[in-house]
Amino acid sequence: APGIVVASPSQSDPDYYFHWVRDAALVTNALIQIGYQIPALKNRVEMHLNDFVEATVKQQTSKALTGLGEPKFFVDGSPFDGPWGRPQNDGPALRAITLINWANLLIDQGEIVKVRTLLYDSRLPTQSPIKRDLEYVSQNWREPSFDIWEEVKGDHFYTRYVQMSALVKGEGLARRLGDSRAADWYRAQAEEVQDSLDSFFDLKKGTLRTTLNQVDGLNYKSSELDVAVVLGILHGDLWDATHFTPKIRSAIDKTIEELKESFNEIYPINYSKNKKAVILGRYPEDRYFGGHPWFLTTFAIAEYYRKTKQNLVEADGLMAEGLYHAGANCQMDEQIHRESGYMLSAYDLTWSYAAFLTAHWSEPQIK
Ligand code: NOJ
Ligand code: NOJ
Repeated sequence: APGIVVASPSQSDPDYYFHWVRDAALVTNALIQIGYQIPALKNRVEMHLNDFVEATVKQQTSKALTGLGEPKFFVDGSPFDGPWGRPQNDGPALRAITLINWANLLIDQGEIVKVRTLLYDSRLPTQSPIKRDLEYVSQNWREPSFDIWEEVKGDHFYTRYVQMSALVKGEGLARRLGDSRAADWYRAQAEEVQDSLDSFFDLKKGTLRTTLNQVDGLNYKSSELDVAVVLGILHGDLWDATHFTPKIRSAIDKTIEELKESFNEIYPINYSKNKKAVILGRYPEDRYFGGHPWFLTTFAIAEYYRKTKQNLVEADGLMAEGLYHAGANCQMDEQIHRESGYMLSAYDLTWSYAAFLTAHWSEPQIK
């Protein structure tokens, strides 16, 4: 259906021929941040954005098993109804962030009428996609849900951080559109989400824990370390000191150090003398396809370093290592075999390309 973003064209082992709310929002956001700014691409991106909004409205109003928390859809736009880790409450937050970014660009271009008719209507109950997601996030962020990797049900730093971001950015848009009661409510909820982040700090180790209060899912993530916390900062995209606080920043830096140390031990591909940087997987205990480095996590660390203006040589090294393991014409799958360096799992993973682009084009965000 129009507006569908397949996670990968791979239809077996693994079958990724679906529209994941998370992947689709992140990929579409990369198109807004990069493609939309390039005159020769703007029209095609705009066509996708219009279709994406149409697909979003259909998904939000479909009879999905967990409503707005439903993680994935068939390519015809109908909700996937087999067994799955659901709900995944990062999805509506990421989708709101993406659509809010587009709405703000439209308002800047004088197209506020389009924003009001297509994206945000200031009504309750709402008929508009951004407000539907913001209402859901503002009322459900305390609920446990499955994590970014679809494996653990509980409270996750990643999910909370992108929920906070959706509410902060939602407050800004609601104010621009004169919906001040909603703006106040989103802000109040954003502050409460922010307070809830405190409990994720591991004060002894100086790191951030990925999950608290687990209620379901796999139980072998003993290190509690996960690149997901870094992805939360990148996908939340809030670089002011009230949100990306010095305390968070130093805990993220420390978490990355610990993760690098452990991936350096776990992945023989990192032993090579010529390596320019330690490539990373999702988390040390990962067993999915055997547990390997991923493109999107490797590029994410490069993006984080560039955006925070640190370890810039290593950031270049991470980009180079990722590209070294890519195929001809920069073809990229999901994972890189930990011993052979060959790619594996879902081929042409759409998110791998988005992660490359946002890392490649990233600008420093810190003064
Ligand atoms: C599929 C999920 O997408 C992946 O993240 C997970 O590791 C495997 N299922 C195993 O649970
Ligand atoms: C597995 C990943 O763990 C998950 O984050 C992603 O949404 C799906 N694959 C689809 O790419």
